[in-house]
Amino acid sequence: MKIVLVGYMGVGKTSLGKKLEKKVGFSCYDLDELIEKSENSTIETIFKDKGEVYFRKVEHELFKTFIERDEDFILSLGGGTPCYANNHLLLQRDDVTSVYLKASVSALVEKLKNKRAKRPLIKNLSEDELQEYIAKHLFDRNYYYQNSKFIINVDGKKKKEIVDEILQLI
Ligand code: S3P
Repeated sequence: MKIVLVGYMGVGKTSLGKKLEKKVGFSCYDLDELIEKSENSTIETIFKDKGEVYFRKVEHELFKTFIERDEDFILSLGGGTPCYANNHLLLQRDDVTSVYLKASVSALVEKLKNKRAKRPLIKNLSEDELQEYIAKHLFDRNYYYQNSKFIINVDGKKKKEIVDEILQLI
């Protein structure tokens, strides 16, 4: 089984993936970490030195290669992964169980307002701008996210509850 966690920045894809790993017994990977290892750099530096288009290209190549692995795994995507380079089509594969971790704009603003520094798309926004940016961005990305096999509303839920919900669905 290939479980792929989808959702906006800050929703908890990475930490939930790691909690899920302990329950399902197969390994969890994080696409941003795979990109950083492969480029021997950080997401911020890649954006800064090579630009977003380059980042999206690497993201696509690594995702495409990874999803074809013949093994069980959990993969936490970056917030933008499903929205570029036809990556959403890779999420439609029969062997992929995609789970959209859905959060409201206000919950995302709360989660992200103190976690902007390492996220190049939002690091220079003020708190007011953040609210408007996320509202628009989520609207634009919704189409890709909603195509996931399962959707879990995460607002107000503890990590354990969300993991249990994922376990019931898959
Ligand atoms: C991005 C999300 C980030 C990272 C990059 C771009 C996005 O991952 O891939 O900064 O476009 O939403 P997280 O969702 O883990 O923050």
